[in-house]
Amino acid sequence: MVLFKGIGASIAIAAYLLFLYYSLQSSSYKRTEIEATFLQAWKGYAAHGWDADIYGPLSKTTSNMYGSKAKPLGWIIIDSIDTMLLMYNSTTSSSNKNLFKHELVKVESWVTRDLDYDIDASVSLFETTIRMLGGLLSAYYLSNELLLGDPTVYLNKAKDLADRMLPAFNTSTGIPYSSINLHTGASQKNHVDEGASSTAEFTTLQLEFKYLSAITADNRYWKAVEKAYKPLYEQNDLIKKYKGLVSIYTYPDTGTFRGSNIRLGSRGDSFYEYLLKQYLQTHERIYYDLYRVSVEGIKENLLSKSNPSGLTYIGEKERGLSGPLSSKMDHLVCFMGGLLAMGATEGLPISEARNQQFWDQKREEDWTLAQELTYTCYQMYHQVPSGLAPEIVVFNDKYASGIVGAWQSADGDFFIKPADSHNLQRPETVESIMFLYHLTKEQKYRDWGWEIFQSFRRHSGVNCKKSDTECAYTSITNVLSEPPSKGDNMESFWLAETLKYLHLLFQDDVDLTGLVFNTEAHPFPVIPEQNLKAHNLVTGWHL
Ligand SMILES: *[C@@H]1O[C@H](CO)[C@@H](O)[C@H](O)[C@H]1NC(C)=O
Ligand SMILES: *[C@@H]1O[C@H](CO)[C@@H](O)[C@H](O)[C@H]1NC(C)=O
Repeated sequence: MVLFKGIGASIAIAAYLLFLYYSLQSSSYKRTEIEATFLQAWKGYAAHGWDADIYGPLSKTTSNMYGSKAKPLGWIIIDSIDTMLLMYNSTTSSSNKNLFKHELVKVESWVTRDLDYDIDASVSLFETTIRMLGGLLSAYYLSNELLLGDPTVYLNKAKDLADRMLPAFNTSTGIPYSSINLHTGASQKNHVDEGASSTAEFTTLQLEFKYLSAITADNRYWKAVEKAYKPLYEQNDLIKKYKGLVSIYTYPDTGTFRGSNIRLGSRGDSFYEYLLKQYLQTHERIYYDLYRVSVEGIKENLLSKSNPSGLTYIGEKERGLSGPLSSKMDHLVCFMGGLLAMGATEGLPISEARNQQFWDQKREEDWTLAQELTYTCYQMYHQVPSGLAPEIVVFNDKYASGIVGAWQSADGDFFIKPADSHNLQRPETVESIMFLYHLTKEQKYRDWGWEIFQSFRRHSGVNCKKSDTECAYTSITNVLSEPPSKGDNMESFWLAETLKYLHLLFQDDVDLTGLVFNTEAHPFPVIPEQNLKAHNLVTGWHL
């Protein structure tokens, strides 16, 4: 009997441990953990920084984008709404569901009563479009879809904001200036760089304004944002001379490039992203063709492999296409794995995509490259002892074989310079991992994402075991120090992008053919063809 009991108890314990093991591995458990982290970061902000645009979670200090006395733009709140809606929808925890609902009610009433875009200050057209207009539009879309709250609250604010930004497009070329006064409508060129705009900035407004046109049946927004392309392509002979690769600065009055610095990091990145995503949003062929030219340009001119392990990376051409390839790569470039994967498959699982008419050798190459780059970006976390990637790495090539004062990865493949060793809780790597997972269903991608999430939680969280409102998630000033040293700022994209992509990674049924994420991870639905036709939304330019 005793023996039997003992065996019975052991079996019960073993079964329990097995059950525990599998529950801790389960995707719904991991989603719940990511939700808990989101809620901690959000509650700390709501308790100590509510409605401020800029929040220092360690000092609990706040400021607004345009001065501490100026009205807030809603930088953190608006950027976070759709993450809460998505988590609300797919959580398996009823207490989290209630918490999200409660917070969303609070946010909606703040947007209704307090958010006022009649602000007499010059705001960044690009940042305000991707974060605020994008956030309001996806809040509209998802609250409508999920029947939660009043979607028109978000739509009305989005229209008001877009109308205030439209005068920025009234330039001789149609290329907007970089900032706009939301009260007077006066637009201004960049204060530095001889007034040149960042090329990625004026080519990363299109998804938002086009979606607004589709839901309001007002094509003014669509027309305004598409004007930038013709001068950009024609004035620079972009396809023939530049192989579809843009210099990172453009003079808005002429459309010509300033300088010849070509890179897929800051100021270049989302030019490429929005070519493909406009195609995915409306299925107008011209944008796929332009994307294709650029991707071939990247393959021919910017790719290389590190020593000794052969990690594939995208380098920079600081002195133009004919100049040498620099082996520096911003973490920002890590979005490219996901983008190439979406470009190859159009959101279909890879096994189905390969059976489509559209599949060809070029897409097969893109697909291989997508996997290689995502692996490289994962290694930028995995090989750093803290598990967190820096802002920039320099890969080991024949020129960069020894950089004075830089840290070198154990295998020798990349360097981190002291000035580049910070981590702003950026999303691009987990973004690519999320896309690759849903297109392949390969478990390794979830493992990578979970590992990165745990490193973020371990090193960027402060006081999170104490209480939710005391908990802070903050940027890291040095991923190499032990423990990594903390900064005092929580970027809105931690809530808008990083935690959203991680949560989507552990959701089981994400249909990537029906959604397009803007560059700030705000999802919009694909616009059906009949909707485009009904409102006469059609590309009005050609080369
Ligand atoms: C809501 O969640 C369900 C279940 O996970 C999912 O099938 C659906 O696509 C989600 N809806 C949205 C809009 O994300
Ligand atoms: C555009 O600019 C021109 C010239 O500065 C001005 O006359 C016109 O009223 C402006 N249009 C809009 C819609 O702002």
